[in-house]
Amino acid sequence: MTQIKTDIAELEHQYVMGTFKRLPITLVEGRGVTVRDTEGREYIDMVAGIAVNALGHAHPAVAQALAEQATRLVHTSNLYYSEPQVALASKLVELSFPSRVFFANSGAEANEAAIKLARKWGKVRRDGAFEIITTDGSFHGRTLATVTAGGKDAYAAPFAPLPPGFVHVPYGDLAAVKSATTRDTVAVMLEPIMGEIGVITPPDGYLEGVRAWCDELDLLLILDEVQTGIGRTGRWFAHQHHGILPDVMTLAKALGGGVPIGACLAAPRADVFEPGDHGSTFGGNPLACAAGLAVLRTIEEQGLVGHAAEMGDLLHASLLELSAVKLVRGRGLMQACILKEPVARDFQSRCLVEGVIVNAVDGETVRLVPPLIITADEIERAVAAMKRAE
Ligand SMILES: Cc1ncc(COP(=O)(O)O)c(C=O)c1O
Repeated sequence: MTQIKTDIAELEHQYVMGTFKRLPITLVEGRGVTVRDTEGREYIDMVAGIAVNALGHAHPAVAQALAEQATRLVHTSNLYYSEPQVALASKLVELSFPSRVFFANSGAEANEAAIKLARKWGKVRRDGAFEIITTDGSFHGRTLATVTAGGKDAYAAPFAPLPPGFVHVPYGDLAAVKSATTRDTVAVMLEPIMGEIGVITPPDGYLEGVRAWCDELDLLLILDEVQTGIGRTGRWFAHQHHGILPDVMTLAKALGGGVPIGACLAAPRADVFEPGDHGSTFGGNPLACAAGLAVLRTIEEQGLVGHAAEMGDLLHASLLELSAVKLVRGRGLMQACILKEPVARDFQSRCLVEGVIVNAVDGETVRLVPPLIITADEIERAVAAMKRAE
């Protein structure tokens, strides 16, 4: 008799391409900040699908919006007008800055739209300028253009030749942006806080300085708020801490509360796409937009942006109590602990055993981006579990 394979890791190896290093759990359901695995073990989810599940798991507002929309119309096409798409776009604009929206399906696609927009803008407004200044260590997605824009060689080098037109400078260094600017420069593209590399916050005055430089040299400022946006840092969008506005902003992750959606917002100055310039079959589809609208309305109605700021301060202070921690950095509910020893991956595994999900981004850095609905009691329980895992 042939042996029946029941081990999901083996089945995955057989049927799914090996692009991800997975932790040894299989999650099957969740509610609020708690998720449960196939063995019935519960975990406090301090990662939230990497800053995606802003309202936690199985939030009734998202579930209801999806159910209602699914019984009316899941998908049409961008060949026709769409009420949910217009409703979500107008809500995003109301919450951010005067702009119009292009909908995509992910962060990488939102950034692709921003890159194409900048190149078109360069053609029509800046005499063919095309180069985009980005930063070392940044992460903008996994498409060919976005790995090239990103500042991690390992993600881009295997796929050379890479598209031209990206220049990298150290993050936080305004002088480097200035000296990298040439007559070919069309835009500066930045994360307001670098997420994937371990929650690197910008030095005081940096974003303001880059904004002023873009104004002076007639460049576009593209802010990638895929991870920082939608309330995560204690403001709707992280640039709002700095009193500046981008010309182009990209969003994804939390926007759909777990349903794939991305968005690229452009201020009138940058809004140069014309019919046929860009598109997407699924981008802004009714189901994803209904979820997005439910997420934004719930965050607004429940005051979750202010709550994220408050809970972020509590999380930051609580993490400082861990004896293995050397430093805590971040803003709102986007925090990272830097450990005294390079044991982040072991720590992540021990945290799982203690019932809390954390994210080791490298040998010594642990990222925490929990749902915005997390309570003080849940933070206390999560940090207590992390203490047991030290
Ligand atoms: C800042 C930033 N930009 C872009 C992306 C890519 O988003 P996606 O994985 O949805 O393509 C990410 C994902 O982690 C991100 O953190």
